[in-house]
Amino acid sequence: MLFGPCAQDAAASFLPAAGSLCAGGAGFVTAMMATLAANGRTAPAKTLRGEVPAVDRLAVRMVTDNIVIQFLPNETRDGLTIERKSGNTHPDKPPRTILNGEWGLAMQAQSFRGTQERNVMVDFGYTPEVLLNNMEILKVDPSHYDAIVLSHGHYDHFGGMVGFLKATKGKLKSKLPFYAGGEDCFCLRRNPGGNFGALDRQAILEAGLTLMMASEPAIVADHAFTTGRIGQTSFEKPLRATDEIVGIFDGFGCFPEKMPAEKNTGGYIPDDFEHELATVYRVKDRGLVVLTSCSHRGVINTVRQAIAASGIDKVLAVIGGFHVVPPLGDDYIRSTIEEFRQIDPDYLITAHCTGDRFYDLARAALGDKVIHSAVGMRFVFGG
Ligand SMILES: [Fe+2]
Repeated sequence: MLFGPCAQDAAASFLPAAGSLCAGGAGFVTAMMATLAANGRTAPAKTLRGEVPAVDRLAVRMVTDNIVIQFLPNETRDGLTIERKSGNTHPDKPPRTILNGEWGLAMQAQSFRGTQERNVMVDFGYTPEVLLNNMEILKVDPSHYDAIVLSHGHYDHFGGMVGFLKATKGKLKSKLPFYAGGEDCFCLRRNPGGNFGALDRQAILEAGLTLMMASEPAIVADHAFTTGRIGQTSFEKPLRATDEIVGIFDGFGCFPEKMPAEKNTGGYIPDDFEHELATVYRVKDRGLVVLTSCSHRGVINTVRQAIAASGIDKVLAVIGGFHVVPPLGDDYIRSTIEEFRQIDPDYLITAHCTGDRFYDLARAALGDKVIHSAVGMRFVFGG
């Protein structure tokens, strides 16, 4: 029973305890469905078929990331320029205008093909305060965005979303596509600490965005593609970092009729992250750049999914959170590194949830191709 009566306590959490499920009521669901139908702003994404789009140049900016690194210079490598933004942008006005690190991830992907430019926002970080602060300092203009991709339904990736949408009201392009990996992205999630995900569908639609469901590999802004569902093809075993529940609760959640029946158990179940996706670019003559975000389905699985979806096995770079963290130990880390040796990317750029132990061992094994990300860094691939 998923749609029982729900106490209308304004202070009530929308996270029900297992066994005491309630909902906004069938009336609410009907209203929501009517809203979706009326707006017509939920659509299947354009599936990647045939030729994979290529770009001449790609710049990935870390708008929100876990740490700030100061004092390192810019670098030029083969096929890669690394720009590091000084955090102290207004030394005469301390301490308000400085880049902030937080546990979360948001990236801006700016790509060029000939005279054509595209900008894609990938994730929103944990808080709107940090996201908006860093965007202002980094001069990231949201009116230039051609698409938004949400990698998965965890707060450290979409926590900044509602505040971002409020702050950019009237500034975003009309009907801006918002890509999500499927209905599962909207399910409520919890970890041992409590609520850890409740994506606000109404906020997305009320902001005038077009919600694009991309469970299959899909073209994004003519220049990129999403992986679609990430297969479990390597030794990796996804960490079940959260539990999820099917249903609508106080206006949040995933519609049962759009979810696999076996997940509709009436209680919380281990999260399989079937909705998670990565965003991928093909840089002309250099290979794939895979933006992993959080790799809950496994970072190797994610890269292999990008290869399978595109038919291109040359990987220029993997950038984002790799999520090789405790309780995963050194044996697991070394297996991951060995898999990376086989894939042989030119660069591994570790951000957000990668794990310091993985960075240390990967750096020792693979040397300079392993690069630590930080807030404000900009990685420019291609000519
Ligand atoms: Fe994350």
